[in-house]
Amino acid sequence: MRKKIVAGNWKMNLLKEEAQALTAELIGMIKDEESRPVNVILFPPFIYINALTQQANAETRISIGAQNCSDKLSGAYTGEVSAPMLASLGCKYVLVGHSERRSYYGETNQSCATKIDLALQNNISPIYCIGETLNERESGIHFDILKKQLEEGIFYLNKEDFSKCIIAYEPVWAIGTGKTASSDQAQEIHKFIRQTVAAKYGNETAENCSILYGGSCNDQNAKELFNLPDVDGGLIGGASLKSRSFTNIIKSLP
Ligand code: 13P
Repeated sequence: MRKKIVAGNWKMNLLKEEAQALTAELIGMIKDEESRPVNVILFPPFIYINALTQQANAETRISIGAQNCSDKLSGAYTGEVSAPMLASLGCKYVLVGHSERRSYYGETNQSCATKIDLALQNNISPIYCIGETLNERESGIHFDILKKQLEEGIFYLNKEDFSKCIIAYEPVWAIGTGKTASSDQAQEIHKFIRQTVAAKYGNETAENCSILYGGSCNDQNAKELFNLPDVDGGLIGGASLKSRSFTNIIKSLP
């Protein structure tokens, strides 16, 4: 049985008090959802991880993750945060290869592969983000792009390590634009990703792989998206910054 996950990527938003208040609200609101088999993961900015892991400690339904980690283990890399440092804070998940990191900070499939390796060595589950730009979709090369992102970024793993990873499909044209993928578009790509995983690792691994959708997912469209056969939850940006909308998204999981 694959895990159902709703994750909130806060990006570079919220001051400390706001971050703690939002977490407290979510802990309270999610308590009512105890019967629902959903994993909730929050991805705050690095500097809040320590406080929020302690805050969420008693609330087993909420895990704290990091939005990024360094592709280096330690040393003279000013401004970087390593996977062992994240692990030492109790961080259980890390986003790798978010399109904003790929486009603004030059991340490549190869640097993502290194980060995934370091995360796994430190018992942190990577959520590997892939997705095509509007240009790539309109040129009809989106399947090739996604396949390349998988092959170069994560398919070097053995089956056991791959099973510890989560995939997030985030079409770049849908992120922060209010233009979400249609159900047909999302299902088509999620099915393609699962088939590509199956061709590499076999049907059982593919069936157990959680594939999240991200890109203008909100409490109005989450239910339809989450009901698609190959969508196992969402990676939510803007709509994860308000407790009410994020809780409604969690409630949208079947
Ligand atoms: P939005 O939900 O704001 O479109 O962002 C999606 C995203 O990038 C999550 O990682």
